[in-house]
Amino acid sequence: MKEAHNITLLGAGLIGTFYTMTVQGQRSRDRIRTICALTDGEAEAFARKWGIPKWTANMKMAVEDPETDIVIVGVPNYLHKKAITLAAKAGKPVLCTKPLARNAREALEILEVVDKAGVFAGYLEDLVYTPKTLKSVAAVKRGAVGKVLWVRSRETHSGPHSAWFWDKKLAGGGAIVDLACHCIEIIRSFIGKEVRPVEVMCLADTVVHPIAAEDSGIALIRFKNQAVGQFEVSWAFRGGMDLRDEVAGAEGTIWLNHFLRTGYEMFTAAGGKGYVAEKAEGEAGWLFPVGDEVHELGYTNMFSDMFDALDEGREPVETLLDGYIVNAIMDACYRSARTRRWEPVMLERWYPEAKKEKAKAPKKTAKGRYSLIKEERMPDGTLKQLLQDWKTGHVIQRIKGG
Ligand SMILES: NC(=O)c1ccc[n+]([C@@H]2O[C@H](COP(=O)([O-])OP(=O)(O)OC[C@H]3O[C@@H](n4cnc5c(N)ncnc54)[C@H](O)[C@@H]3O)[C@@H](O)[C@H]2O)c1
Repeated sequence: MKEAHNITLLGAGLIGTFYTMTVQGQRSRDRIRTICALTDGEAEAFARKWGIPKWTANMKMAVEDPETDIVIVGVPNYLHKKAITLAAKAGKPVLCTKPLARNAREALEILEVVDKAGVFAGYLEDLVYTPKTLKSVAAVKRGAVGKVLWVRSRETHSGPHSAWFWDKKLAGGGAIVDLACHCIEIIRSFIGKEVRPVEVMCLADTVVHPIAAEDSGIALIRFKNQAVGQFEVSWAFRGGMDLRDEVAGAEGTIWLNHFLRTGYEMFTAAGGKGYVAEKAEGEAGWLFPVGDEVHELGYTNMFSDMFDALDEGREPVETLLDGYIVNAIMDACYRSARTRRWEPVMLERWYPEAKKEKAKAPKKTAKGRYSLIKEERMPDGTLKQLLQDWKTGHVIQRIKGG
């Protein structure tokens, strides 16, 4: 029998809303008992809407509420360390939204506080828990696409909904720290979290919005086993929220579209009937709603994993160490954007029992003189073989059948 949890939720904004819809959704027994927001008024309005018995603007009091057994952090990035530290000091399990911190140094300080307190902790990276991603990652782990060579992950929309996101100091950066944290964890989930990210090349720019932070970023992440991750993030994309991933393996391919094309397309001339989907830009014309948004964005599976892990005494799929590694990769991206060079990913912490990943390059020497590169059936019905001739160094072709 799984335990029902009584939750302190910090933050009553967009993510607080999605988290509440999820943890109190369907027939769940888990309940938010205390909600904390910047003002009492905001907290009270949220509490009344969602049937939450207690509200406050005092984060410490919310965390220390004796009637709650777990803390969920959904406040702006600059408050994650404070919130997690309060939870750790209160000896309570803590789950933190993305990004873990504004930079790797802050993330490391968070890890140290949590390790010292010895409390259970999880990193709330929802997009690795979408039903499509979980199924694809399982297929990749079974070898369905062979060795993963390249993963491309894209998250773009027209920009965030609250002022603090746009303030570099409070958020830790712009579109990269906000969106690439998702992409990086998706990329790592497909490539294998045990594979070390080695270096990055990143372009970050402010192309549309009048802000000091970047509103666009593209990066390549090179991993130790030769796999490459590529992210594309932007706050300057028009037309909704574009969430797409591509996995290219030596023996297969996966294309995922999580949001704008989920198989639900609707035209309305009447329009104006309310919320369509996160970051949708209109309420009329062609719309792309999402069937069960919290499920399709991964929140449902994410909280199931987190609470199950807590009840079962195991680690969740996404840990704070994962969050730190994501921050370290983003730090390298910001350095590369400044220096315009490949920059190393500097990691002070890594998995304790990481499997040693051998860099498997394609075999350069074959048993015989020839290695088959590929074969292809041609329009005239012949089978064409391309072969590496190791003696001459040339690539030759043979035609079979007809
Ligand atoms: N997919 C995701 O996982 C996802 C999506 C959106 C946001 N987030 C993350 O969630 C966090 C919050 O983002 P959001 O979109 O909900 O922001 P938001 O601006 O919509 O809401 C922020 C909330 O924090 C509260 N808050 C601010 N200062 C506070 C304080 N000192 N004490 C108590 N409460 C305080 C505000 O009152 C508000 O309720 C950020 O770290 C963001 O990156 C994650």
